Amino acid sequence: MKLITTVREMERYARHNLRRGRRIALVPTMGCFHFGHVMLMRAARRRCDRLVVSIFVNPLQFGRGEDFASYPRNMRRDLATARAERVNAVFAPSSDELYPAGFSTFVEEERLSRRLCGPGRPGHFRGVTTVVAKLLQIVRPHTAVFGRKDAQQAAIVRKMILDLHFPVRLLVVPTVREKNGLAMSSRNEYLSARERREAAVLYAALEEARALVRAGERDAAKVAAAARDRIAACPVASVEYVEAVHPETLEPVGRITGPTLLALAARVGPARLIDNVILHPRRRG
Ligand code: PAF
Repeated sequence: MKLITTVREMERYARHNLRRGRRIALVPTMGCFHFGHVMLMRAARRRCDRLVVSIFVNPLQFGRGEDFASYPRNMRRDLATARAERVNAVFAPSSDELYPAGFSTFVEEERLSRRLCGPGRPGHFRGVTTVVAKLLQIVRPHTAVFGRKDAQQAAIVRKMILDLHFPVRLLVVPTVREKNGLAMSSRNEYLSARERREAAVLYAALEEARALVRAGERDAAKVAAAARDRIAACPVASVEYVEAVHPETLEPVGRITGPTLLALAARVGPARLIDNVILHPRRRG
């Protein structure tokens, strides 16, 4: 496995493999791998000849007062995991390498980014689209792989790919959960053992909402309120939002008449966590 830290070397690696007709898949990450990342790598592996994983804690997507400095990092363990997953190259540039002095060009999606997490994290998605655009440009993958836990991020990246004609296929991989239902996330590292147990309420709330829809409820506000109330009953959790939206446009939904994304953000102890499910009105039982 190659460890690549410069843009120039990464471009050379991509060019070399593309000339030989090899298919490249990219899994962009901020490191501190958990089993969710492993599943992204495995899904990517099946679709390529060369698997590239990027590890870069992107300063641009963290707002003032957010957890950039404390974001968990563990390069040694990540490299061992990547090696075990038969990753061909890890691209781990420094901030100065990706954003050299004088960097002043940004990529911003202006509609989907305003929804859900947008208002609570100004500038976050601009940071994500900017870094993902750069990674796609440098690595030139046929397939880029993202997790469904970050459903808004995946929808925005999909829109950016469409709007800017990036020649890449987006693959979105299902959320991997702990035994108690908690969605795996690097930020779960911030939780104490008790908070980790209590954080299961987020998925339980989404499941409760799903059960309501299965039982015939179609009023999106009522479904979201049920999930919100369930979380509010948990002493260590506080809800930022629970919203039912169209899975692609992220526009709010009034009646649940087709597949609908029920997404939430909540604070559990020191961590801001997100999760989501798709509600299917036609599936009963
Ligand atoms: O989902 C993440 O880990 C990050 O937002 C990403 C896509 C690697 C961009 O920094």
